[in-house]
Amino acid sequence: MQPRKIIIDTDPGQDDAVAILLALASPEQIEVLGITCVAGNVPLALTARNARMVCELAGRPDIPVFAGCDRPLGRALVTAEHVHGKTGLDGPSLPEPQMPLQSQHAVDFIIDTVRSHPPGTITLCPLGPLTNIATALARAPDIAPRLQEIVLMGGAYFEVGNITPAAEFNIYVDPQAAQAVFAAGVPLVVMPLDVTHKALVTAERNAAFRNLGTPVGIAVAQMTEFFERYDREKYGSLGAPLHDPCVTAYLLAPHLFSGRHVNVEIETTSELTMGMTVADWWRVTDRPANATFMGQIDADGFFALLTQRLARL
Ligand code: RIB
Ligand code: CA
Repeated sequence: MQPRKIIIDTDPGQDDAVAILLALASPEQIEVLGITCVAGNVPLALTARNARMVCELAGRPDIPVFAGCDRPLGRALVTAEHVHGKTGLDGPSLPEPQMPLQSQHAVDFIIDTVRSHPPGTITLCPLGPLTNIATALARAPDIAPRLQEIVLMGGAYFEVGNITPAAEFNIYVDPQAAQAVFAAGVPLVVMPLDVTHKALVTAERNAAFRNLGTPVGIAVAQMTEFFERYDREKYGSLGAPLHDPCVTAYLLAPHLFSGRHVNVEIETTSELTMGMTVADWWRVTDRPANATFMGQIDADGFFALLTQRLARL
């Protein structure tokens, strides 16, 4: 079976880094055509730096990395250094990237890639605010029906918000972009906090990363040890929630997840609930279903897959 061709759109971010590493560790199932960076956890210059550092950590300086949008469509950028540290990749001490950033804008790379491949063969995997994706869809509406799927990390329903009482960070940072993506008619799989908060890096799971004894295993252990502080203090969690790797794991082993195909709308007017993903989980409206919204994960299976694949790098 041919590997699935994907573009990872990302704002690294320690959890983004683990998602990228998991994808690069699975070449028989995933072909990463490129990594497009967006402003989110930290400003664009740092997300573009961090993405290249992760590719070099994986021994893949050949992966083309592109810089995209440096601010949301209609709001000031909100970043998350309080979670990810001032570099966005605090924890391990990784060398500055040697591989170059591509000169092409990330949005143009997304558009050109989708147009140059057969319809239904490209999957977009957004792991941060949806600014690049929405900009590509607005600039080239013809790509929407050509996409195989969009599998994204974002939103929350039963779990409610992590950046405000109502909203999850990726959606909150650029709610207008999220509204456009959820309305684009592209097959959509959503990994919300309802799932990612069940994928916690407990001490045992972190030890399994470290016990790999490889530069990747040790770096991942250091990354998750750093960014677990926020969730431990806020939620009393048993460890860092591995938000973004749930996207990659879905591509590799969809049976690890379960959810419902429901309508999901984005709040874009009320400041009180700005960026909330209003999921019609109980189907109480006649609004058409537009997303497979995940609710459950086999966390042990997820970590077994992740650890086994990271051992390959
Ligand atoms: O709310 C979690 C999401 O926001 C993750 O993608 C994390 O990396 C941050 O971007
Ligand atoms: Ca992210």
